[in-house]
Amino acid sequence: NVEKKVDSIVSIMTLEEKVGQMVQYSGTWDLTGPASGNQNQYREEQLKKGLVGSMLNVLSVEATREAQKLVMENSRIKIPLMFGYDVIHGYKTIFPVPLGETASWDLEAMKETARISALEAAADGVNWTFAPMIDISRDARWGRIMEGSGEDPFLTSRVAEAKIRGYQGDDLSNPATIAATAKHFAGYGFAEAGRDYNTVHVGENELHNTILPPFKAAAAAGVATFMNSFNDLDGTPATGSKMLQRDILKEDWDWDGFIVSDWGSIAEMINHGFAEDLTHAAEIAVKAGSDMDMEGGAYETGLVQLVNSGKVDEALIDDAVKRILWVKFKLGLFEDPYRYSNSQMAEQLNLKEHRAVARDVAKKSIVLLKNDKNLLPIASSVKNIAVIGPLADDKDTPIGNWRAQGEANSAVSILEGLKSAVGNNVKITYAKGADLGMGERTFLKPLKINTTDKSGFKAAIDAAKKADLVILALGEDAFQSGEGRSQVNIGLAGLQQELMHEIYKVNKNVVLVLQNGRPLEISWAAENIPAIVVAWQLGTESGNAIADVLFGRYNPSAKLPVSFPRAVGQEPLYYNQKNTGRPSNPSDVTYSAYTDEEKTALYPFGYGLSYTTFEYGDLTLSSEEMNPQESLTVTVSVTNTGKKAGKEVVQLYLRDMVASTTRPVKELKGFELVELQPGETKQVSFTISNELLKFYNANKEWASEPGEFQVMIGGNSIDLKTESFRLN
Ligand code: IFM
Repeated sequence: NVEKKVDSIVSIMTLEEKVGQMVQYSGTWDLTGPASGNQNQYREEQLKKGLVGSMLNVLSVEATREAQKLVMENSRIKIPLMFGYDVIHGYKTIFPVPLGETASWDLEAMKETARISALEAAADGVNWTFAPMIDISRDARWGRIMEGSGEDPFLTSRVAEAKIRGYQGDDLSNPATIAATAKHFAGYGFAEAGRDYNTVHVGENELHNTILPPFKAAAAAGVATFMNSFNDLDGTPATGSKMLQRDILKEDWDWDGFIVSDWGSIAEMINHGFAEDLTHAAEIAVKAGSDMDMEGGAYETGLVQLVNSGKVDEALIDDAVKRILWVKFKLGLFEDPYRYSNSQMAEQLNLKEHRAVARDVAKKSIVLLKNDKNLLPIASSVKNIAVIGPLADDKDTPIGNWRAQGEANSAVSILEGLKSAVGNNVKITYAKGADLGMGERTFLKPLKINTTDKSGFKAAIDAAKKADLVILALGEDAFQSGEGRSQVNIGLAGLQQELMHEIYKVNKNVVLVLQNGRPLEISWAAENIPAIVVAWQLGTESGNAIADVLFGRYNPSAKLPVSFPRAVGQEPLYYNQKNTGRPSNPSDVTYSAYTDEEKTALYPFGYGLSYTTFEYGDLTLSSEEMNPQESLTVTVSVTNTGKKAGKEVVQLYLRDMVASTTRPVKELKGFELVELQPGETKQVSFTISNELLKFYNANKEWASEPGEFQVMIGGNSIDLKTESFRLN
């Protein structure tokens, strides 16, 4: 039925109107008033003529309504606009940055934060988010690592599904839900040397086995749109890649949504040296399957002429337009173009209940890396705490980058969270110690690190001397990670390392609380500081969530979704590596390693401590062999051997011992969050189906191959119990 409607609309559209649907503008002027300046006036006219398909960065019920009116009251065919925006980790209520939230491994919680983000965004006129970002990223130098789910394809796939379900709900036409975007298709997270937008060299094997699985999962979960990516992939810009967009996504995966380009990525094919001019770029992109041009001006400039001259078949334009209209139908925009521009929705913004969810997911995202001397949870005998560091009373950093409408300085700081947790029972002394030394905090401006001013050191050292315990709040500025924020150094910037040394000299009871958007190089701290907590950028309720964990009101359960290196020179670093031909050789140096550092992670993927301890029993397999049409079950007993109730993320890994292509030494293939009372034991079972054993093999097929498999279960990617079985 919808298909028929779409066809009948397309059949009465002029070529210009069709191309118009493939054009997306950013809201470069206040749409509640008249457009000023030549470009904006021109754009307003284009809207009136119905020559624009969607807008991004137009916010508020009023602005979206006015923009929609321009189209609905003036254009011939009256096709409503979609309004897109980067709703990445919350809209007004801000949740942990995606890398941090993934550390919770709590898919229900992640779905819920997406649902709330959608509700708040929709209440402000937005009906389309450019999220989730599901680029596998294994290089901590890359600034956008904060925006994804880390290094593992299986975990990222599950998060992608949860997020899409949260944003889109069961019915996209419900005005409390919005369309989601799987981005960036594909390979963007593999930018060479971690430098944003850089070239990507991956072979077919890596592409299919590592990069594409989350996108395939997103397509299967019914994500409404995809966004292509800025990078070139093995010599072809992703935006101009027919192989990715038409052959894999639209044909092999039979996906029916539309692909929006990244900002200007069609036009950027000129810079790539892949297109001569805008018209040529448009030709390449449309043939490759890019359906909508975000702010690139290429489709607007070249597509009509390309069709008229016979260089581009109009059927390609029709296909793109049908896909776009299809999503607009699903959003209910043909029924009511103002469905998302309804003032009654505005009361959904920033509700108290949303803050409660923000606190809940924030505490679940905090990773306890080290807890010597059982410094944590903070004992009731501790009566004098020094809270030190540039991020201790920082209300802005927890909001992170890609903050949508999250207000600057609106988070609960660590100091505030701790103070409200202890009331008058504990003396808290605050000393900043040093500035982070960063410049202006904006999305686009570079940060400057000022490393000279140590005038705050003395007060911090004095406070540390007098305290029973020091909470040292270090890490990264909110805008140190994110788009365009690649770094060659991933240690503690500025004077932070020195401040840490000075504090440690006078007080050994230090709890290091890191706020960070990427894995940091913290080898010295790991060796010396007794307790370390990774608190990412946790959003609006950050300080309260940190206090919940530090005082033991919440027993930490999070696990790293990404490896923390010993040294930046190890990057890209990830657990699911290949074995190589020379994995180890105890007698000389001729094996795959470094001569000046261990090759393993400092803290591996899947790692995180609790205030209790868990013990794993041996694995029991339901059978030692299986046929492809069967499945088998592996069971492990997990016991809480400590004194506190706690949650454990039980992780299942598999290894295909011999295959037609080399395979990783282990791959995550399942996980379960298990809650255990002290002394309690639970049996945890995973079903191993043939599906889990499949990979992109030497015949270019997604298939399993007979032979031996290792099955491993444990609480992180290193400490694992192992068994084997055979696939016949
Ligand atoms: O969605 C983003 C994308 O991830 C990076 N470039 C700009 C887009 C729209 O803001």
